Order: sequence, then structure tokens, then C-alpha cells
Amino acid sequence: MLSDIEVERAIGLLRSGGIVAIPTETVYGLAASIDHPEAIRKVFQTKGRPANHPLILHIADKQDLNRFACQIPDYVVPLVDHFWPGPLTLILKKTDLVSPLLTGGHDTVGVRMPAHPIALEIIKGAGPIVAPSANRFGKVSPTTAAHVKKDLGSSVDFVVDGGRCTIGIESTILDVTHPDYALIARQGLLSPSDFNDVLGYCCVISDINTQVAASGNLKSHYCPNKPLALFSDRESFEKIDKESQQNLYILSFSSHPPSYSHYHFQMPNNPIDYAHQLYFQLRIADESNAKMIAIELPDKKKGWEAILERLYKASNNRDR
Ligand code: TXA
Ligand code: MG
Repeated sequence: MLSDIEVERAIGLLRSGGIVAIPTETVYGLAASIDHPEAIRKVFQTKGRPANHPLILHIADKQDLNRFACQIPDYVVPLVDHFWPGPLTLILKKTDLVSPLLTGGHDTVGVRMPAHPIALEIIKGAGPIVAPSANRFGKVSPTTAAHVKKDLGSSVDFVVDGGRCTIGIESTILDVTHPDYALIARQGLLSPSDFNDVLGYCCVISDINTQVAASGNLKSHYCPNKPLALFSDRESFEKIDKESQQNLYILSFSSHPPSYSHYHFQMPNNPIDYAHQLYFQLRIADESNAKMIAIELPDKKKGWEAILERLYKASNNRDR
């Protein structure tokens, strides 16, 4: 159990301009107070993130949305009522209270109210914070405190250990700047059909070319260090197996690997449990002695959109 002393320490550090990794229900975030521009700069620097990639503003009170965002369409109200606190980020026109440093110079801001009790307690004590995923830019997001320590180590003032993240992939981002409809800017466990239940229509995925710089829109992201290849049948598997000289770390749906391998993990057959395992298992695979990672593609589509997007982007590391 996390002690109050650790939460108090995190709050104190954030209030005095420190950067602190905190647990959320999706992935660990690297937090800095929005009142400390130097700390926000340090977040960009620590992640190795380009300055034009906006950070998400995290709040602990739904009412704060009105302080930081303006021109809020009516349809946003039921979204907030239904999904906050939770794994949903909303992109809206920003107010003057939001520094362009945080938004990467854009006139919009991404806002999220996380559901993790420790995150909420820290934000209540320290005030609103920025919290990008606590990993180096382009790499796999951390889902435990140990992951953060390994990736960012001593460049972070403190890591709050809140155990393993329950969801395991980043929040869904909705672009709600349009007065009439919402668009999906980054897929997450909240899927188009979840929004259908609240909005009465299925949100479509926003056009990459009209988007501002969003790391989720890069072709390659969420990448492990080892080459990662995807397979869907025997033939594609054998090609990868040969390329790795039969030295693969395999994440597949069956209880047995498709070929003899020391390294195999059986992935769950539903997207919620799969998401919980994905980054966690990718990190274990990365630390193994295998030469490459091979992941079996889920054959279903509905409900798997966010997983498929992560898998395709993570596998685009092979030419780098
Ligand atoms: O689940 C999450 O959202 C986690 C946890 C820690 O809350 N945070 C997270 O932050 O994933 P980050 O910075 O790793 O990813 C945020 C994404 C980026 O792709 C960023 O470009 C996009 O959100 N984003 C933020 N503000 C935006 C804006 N105003 N317009 C477009 N994209 C924005
Ligand atoms: Mg990230």
C-alpha cells in the first residue's frame, strides 16, 4: 500500500517545480505543475519530446474544464458526465490560462480527468498538471513504477509507485473542437461504439493530415527496442522465424508457440485483457535474449481497433 507520505512528497515536489512520475489507470505519466514552466520544459527534455508535441492537461475536478477550455460544444457535457473520471482526453480550444508551452504552440488543449485515486489525490493537492506518458519519446509507455525507473531513472525527482496500471494503454483522445461532431484523434479502450451510446453516432477517426502534431499520429510509435514483426498465418510466421534465425520472442493466442521457442507468452483473447498485457509483455520481450519479437495479429476487428493501431505502429521500427 502506498503511504500518504509518498503522496505528500509528490505534491510537495510538484508545487516546488519538480517532475514526478505518477500512476494513472492507463499508463504512468510524467507530471509537472502547470504553474512551473521550467518543470514543463524539463518534461519535454526528459522525454526527448519535440517542443511542438502538445502535452495533456490533467485535472481532478470536472469544473476545471471551463477554466482551461472555451467554445465547448453542448455534446461535450454528456461525454464528461459519462466518461470522467476515466481514460478519455478531450481536445478543445484553449483559454488564456493555458500556456502555449504546454500545447506545443497550438490554440487547442487536451484535457483529461484520470480515474486513478492516487493521481486524483496528487492533482487535488498540487493543482492541475501536465502528464505525458513517462517514457522516452516514441518508445513503449510504462505500466509499472519499475518501468519508469528503468527508462528515466535519476532524471525524475520521484516515482510514485501505485502498482500496475489496470488499463495498460493510453487514453482515447477525442477532438471535440467541431461544434457538431466529435472525431477520434487517438484510439483507446473507449471505442467508437462506446461513444455511439452517448452521442447517438459513431465517431470517425480524424484525418491524419488535418491533425496537429500528435505522437499517436506518427507512423512509428510505441516501439520496443528489438525489431518487431506481425504475423497472421503460418507463411508470414515462417518468414519472420527465418529472419530471426529461429530466435523469436512470440506473443500469440495459442497455448503453444507456432514453432519451438524458449520465448512465448499466450496473449488474452479479449481486447481489455490484451491491452493490460501488451506493453507489459513487450517490455519483457525486449529484455529477453531473443533477436526479434513476433506478435500474432488478432483476427477480429471490432473492439480491437486501439490494439491494432498500437501493433502496426510498434512494428514500424524495423527500418530505423
Ligand atoms: O492515457 C494517457 O493519456 C496518458 C496518461 C499518463 O494520462 N498520457 C499520454 O500522454 O498518453 P502523451 O503525451 O504520451 O500522449 C498525448 C497525446 C500526444 O499524441 C499529443 O500529441 C496529443 O495527445 N495531444 C495533446 N494535446 C493535443 C492537442 N491540443 N491537439 C492534438 N493532440 C494533442
Ligand atoms: Mg506517449
